[in-house]
Amino acid sequence: MRHRAIATMLDRSGRIQLCAEMHAILARRQLSPNVTRLDVLAPRIAQIRQPGQFVIVRLQENAERIPLTIADADANAGSIALVIQSVGKSTRELVALKPGESISDLVGPLGHPTEMIESGAALCVGGGVGTAVVHPIAQALARRGVRVASIIGGRSREWVVFEEELRRLGPVEVCTDDGSYGRKGFVTDAARQTLDAGGIDIVYAVGPVPMMRAMANLTRSFGVRTIVSLNPVMIDGTGMCGGCRVSVGNETRFACVDGPEFDGHQVNFDELMDRLSMYREFEQQSIACADGDCRLGQRASSS
Ligand code: NAD
Ligand code: FES
Repeated sequence: MRHRAIATMLDRSGRIQLCAEMHAILARRQLSPNVTRLDVLAPRIAQIRQPGQFVIVRLQENAERIPLTIADADANAGSIALVIQSVGKSTRELVALKPGESISDLVGPLGHPTEMIESGAALCVGGGVGTAVVHPIAQALARRGVRVASIIGGRSREWVVFEEELRRLGPVEVCTDDGSYGRKGFVTDAARQTLDAGGIDIVYAVGPVPMMRAMANLTRSFGVRTIVSLNPVMIDGTGMCGGCRVSVGNETRFACVDGPEFDGHQVNFDELMDRLSMYREFEQQSIACADGDCRLGQRASSS
């Protein structure tokens, strides 16, 4: 077994106790072809986390830091649910962990909790893996007595996640790009119809950046406040490195400490897309290296 963590804590007599596997994987479930749910032992975080907050994990010392929203938590079991889309080398290694193995470092909860309403009706819109981020928000709203309706989408049936969990909280409309399940089309098509019907006080939208931008443009025309969750590249998660810089209302904000959720009508989505695309080539190179097809050295020597 690999990645076992050893932590220390004091027992009631003040003696140091060793606790193995502080961040052990308790369960692993494949949610869609490239999305995996890991339930991870993190008792303190499970007790104090709030919707919208995230953790940064490191598989081992010197490994890449990966920011992940806390999709769910069970304070009694001391576990948090992390939903991971395998897009690069580090996320592929993370989702390869099996129950009993552990994550070396896990820091959190980080970021501001979600801005909540206390009554009325909320529309939660999740695109692909972003639906996992919408889930804890919908949970907290429903607990407050807010009426929650969800619209969730995926490329096709097998890419739809968290449908069952959201159905426990209110009505859910599923959309698929190819029409293989639910309504054919983007989540924005279904959202337009719901907004047309009226009665929505706030929208929470999380998913790919083009989807959040389209949702913000749509709700602006209806005058409905809209919260989006941004996912720029993060490094330290403490507001020091500037990696997660975003522009909101013409001001520079840091997603890790000022967000990750912002007023969707104020976000500069074009700049966010440019910044995200800057890292795409590095990600592809690191995947190629992990697959044994590393051309980084060739490029350097031929220049
Ligand atoms: P995807 O590309 O398969 O899209 C999922 C759904 O979003 C689609 O089925 C559609 O309904 C909607 N959608 C996509 N493009 C749209 C557009 N232009 N207009 C309207 N609706 C659109 O999604 P995926 O591959 O599961 O999502 C991955 C993306 O989500 C990644 O880019 C990831 O970084 C991002 N993400 C964001 C957060 C966050 O906190 N903001 C969290 C997790 C993932
Ligand atoms: Fe470094 Fe936010 S991750 S400033």
